[in-house]
Amino acid sequence: MSQALHPMLNTAVKAARTAGALINRASLDIERVTVTAKSHNDFVTEVDQAAEAAIIETLLGAYPGHGILAEETGRTHGAKDSDYLWIIDPLDGTTNFIHGFPVYAVSIALAFRGQIQQAVVYDPSRNDLFYASKGRGAFLNDKRLRVSKRSRLLESLIGTGFPFRKGDNFKRYLKMFEEVMQHCAGLRRPGAAALDLCYVAAGWYDGFFETGLNPWDIAAGSLMITEAGGLIGNFTGESDYLYQREIVAGNPKIYAQLVSILAPYTRIIKDDEASATAPAGSAAVPDATAAFVASVESDAPAAAVPKKPPVRIRKADLAKAKDDDAPF
Ligand code: IPD
Ligand code: CA
Ligand code: CA
Repeated sequence: MSQALHPMLNTAVKAARTAGALINRASLDIERVTVTAKSHNDFVTEVDQAAEAAIIETLLGAYPGHGILAEETGRTHGAKDSDYLWIIDPLDGTTNFIHGFPVYAVSIALAFRGQIQQAVVYDPSRNDLFYASKGRGAFLNDKRLRVSKRSRLLESLIGTGFPFRKGDNFKRYLKMFEEVMQHCAGLRRPGAAALDLCYVAAGWYDGFFETGLNPWDIAAGSLMITEAGGLIGNFTGESDYLYQREIVAGNPKIYAQLVSILAPYTRIIKDDEASATAPAGSAAVPDATAAFVASVESDAPAAAVPKKPPVRIRKADLAKAKDDDAPF
């Protein structure tokens, strides 16, 4: 690394590398790893848990007054009233990891009053370190990242993630998939959302979309994208995405084209007055942060985040998306 890192980013890198070493060791004998199903098709291993513990120990060792929101332990650790919140996915791509498919990563972001300021995504099987500090650019190892320059969706490579949990709306996803597929050059689904977002930042994908993601899947990757000159938002192209379970990202031109396809499929519940003015690409959603964190603390599902009036969709768009919400 050629430039001096922000001290908080440095600590995050240390934590990510420690977790990555643990993951690499475990990957040598994957048969021995204990796997537990959190729900249908949603797995956790002892490696996720050990990696998370190691990350939290490193972060709180350096910053004992900070808050923690982590995938496996929620808000159990750290301060509850800090302006700083570390958002952690200790192993993004657990299903890949369990199968020995080497596409998984450690994802750590630091939010200050709801704004993501520092981000690390570490791919341990390639020893690739993606990192970003707000206002200071995004990097892969020593290389500055820039989103792609492609301007036509028809020529673009797009990443996505498939729904897989019981109750997910497979029908709705397949309609989006069909539409995007017909308007782009190729679609990819490697299986680790944090890396998918880094691939947009690196210009390897021109765009990305997925539903059902949690803040720990996307917090770090979102800063990589904005620091690499890209945009990230919800399906209607607004900045209210971190806690909304629908996300679209890309270089500015491809982002706009994806939004025009995906907007009719939005399930964002938004406040017409409040959030409409914030620019896409900023992760400033302090109210949503508080609500999400409260839902984690109370063990209630994330859907307990207060609902706001739905986005109005044009009739023509509705006709396209009218298939019901029920899964197969
Ligand atoms: C999963 C991955 C995957 C995405 C899922 C996530 P996990 O994270 O990011 O790409 O499609 O929605 O849950 O569970 O492996 O940390
Ligand atoms: Ca994840
Ligand atoms: Ca995970």
